[in-house]
Amino acid sequence: MPSPRVVPHHPADLEAWQVLRPLLDAGPYLPWSSGALRPAALVRACNEVVLGDRRAVVECGSGMSTVVLARLLRQREAGQLVALEHDEGWAQRVHDLLRREALQDRARVVHAPLDGDPPWYAEAALDDLPMAIDLLLVDGPPAYLPGDEHRRAPALTTLDDRLAHGATVVLDDIDRPGERAVLEGWETATAWRFARDEVAAVAVGARDRAPTLL
Ligand SMILES: C[S@@+](CC[C@H](N)C(=O)[O-])C[C@H]1O[C@@H](n2cnc3c(N)ncnc32)[C@H](O)[C@@H]1O
Repeated sequence: MPSPRVVPHHPADLEAWQVLRPLLDAGPYLPWSSGALRPAALVRACNEVVLGDRRAVVECGSGMSTVVLARLLRQREAGQLVALEHDEGWAQRVHDLLRREALQDRARVVHAPLDGDPPWYAEAALDDLPMAIDLLLVDGPPAYLPGDEHRRAPALTTLDDRLAHGATVVLDDIDRPGERAVLEGWETATAWRFARDEVAAVAVGARDRAPTLL
């Protein structure tokens, strides 16, 4: 049965663990696995929060990144994150990780079953999202199974209206054909343009012109 890829660690990830150290040291052990964002990709998201002063963060697909970003928002004493999560059991686990560090005022996980074609987070859950999102991190739903490759496409088209002026969108896993096709589709159908970090396998987008990678 197919499973998430295990990507051999790139030297950039080893450096990224060091960059992330203040956040990793800011709380108890996190059960990292191949399902989580690569450290080099997480550094890109954290840099967006700090250098872009992001305060209304939405994440599609929760996990260790949710906890690390919540720690960062707590350190900055600014901002909140809402993570959409289709898997109820995983949503509870991530919620428990946030609760043990009293991070619920900085981040919460909203259980949102997948719905529609392609299946995406159920519309009812979108009521829980901020009206002016300034950072959207797209790392879900899972898109590694054959036939599921374009599952992340609805993220931008669904949430475009909720993205603030000057917002950025980060898409993970752009080393996969599915996410590359999603990016091309977004650039064709919307005003969003993306800068690609091929080493971290993430793209960072803004309206009208590709942003400088922070
Ligand atoms: C790419 S993962 C999201 C990872 C998350 N953004 C992070 O960096 O930790 C997409 C989905 O896989 C599932 N998932 C992630 N990590 C998992 C784990 N360790 N065990 C089971 N499911 C996991 C969750 O349903 C999640 O929404």
